[in-house]
Amino acid sequence: MSYSIHPLTAHTGAEVRGLNLAAAIDSDTRADLNRAFAKHHVLVIRDQELAPEGFKKAAQVFGELQEHDKKDVHVPGHPDVYYVSNDHIVNGKRIIPGETFHTDHSNHPTPPKATTLFAVSLPSRGGDTQYVNMHDAYDDLPEAMKRRINDRKAVHVYLSKYSPRSLGNLTEESRKALPPPGIHPLVRTHPDNGRKALYLNPVRMESIVGMEDSEALDLIGELMAHATQKKYEYRHQWCNGDMVIWDNRSVMHQANPDYDMNERRYLYRLMLKGEVPV
Ligand SMILES: [Fe+2]
Repeated sequence: MSYSIHPLTAHTGAEVRGLNLAAAIDSDTRADLNRAFAKHHVLVIRDQELAPEGFKKAAQVFGELQEHDKKDVHVPGHPDVYYVSNDHIVNGKRIIPGETFHTDHSNHPTPPKATTLFAVSLPSRGGDTQYVNMHDAYDDLPEAMKRRINDRKAVHVYLSKYSPRSLGNLTEESRKALPPPGIHPLVRTHPDNGRKALYLNPVRMESIVGMEDSEALDLIGELMAHATQKKYEYRHQWCNGDMVIWDNRSVMHQANPDYDMNERRYLYRLMLKGEVPV
């Protein structure tokens, strides 16, 4: 299979063309794609035609599937294929999943290394996904800040009392299945590319170990303001047939509710198992 991989920015994102993930992927191609993933952090694989089972197979080119916390949110008939959509209303308020910058499921002691979406239905305009590079954001910090945070750990719960947004309702079954909180370093080292990265998630971080909450919130706010600068960003404009996979250890991401909510936005979603952050 002849395919090409082109960077989308100087720091984050690469586009893969000419690859059909519904077909069998040989071991050389698999290794090549995984190398590109560790290097570019976000892969945009164009022109895919994937039904739920095919999407599962495609995701597994990059690792092993991890379950989502919301057990009731799945594609009908496919309990292990999740989705994001704009048609979820709780108490009269529309819930747009992922509306502020975050990394996925960091409340787990072993959070998912990657998340992937496949576009099934897109609004005619808007609904981009933004990614910011947490390796570059860390590298650029002043030495004094690096020293301040290098050995700090944060407690990540399902939904922090300081979260900037709601996550919608969890069913009783899903709540019971939640793991204990994840206690993760603020700075983690990527196992495949060896680079350090900030590991932040204001939706889930409830405290920093050994620090007053007010000081922790100020610190997280300062780091977030730094890490979400445009110079660290790749902004993905979705096209039909895009499968996008991103590395939760390398980037934060956010969704944009800036489109006509009468139009449907619906994407299949899967996560891949990661390792304990160190
Ligand atoms: Fe997310």
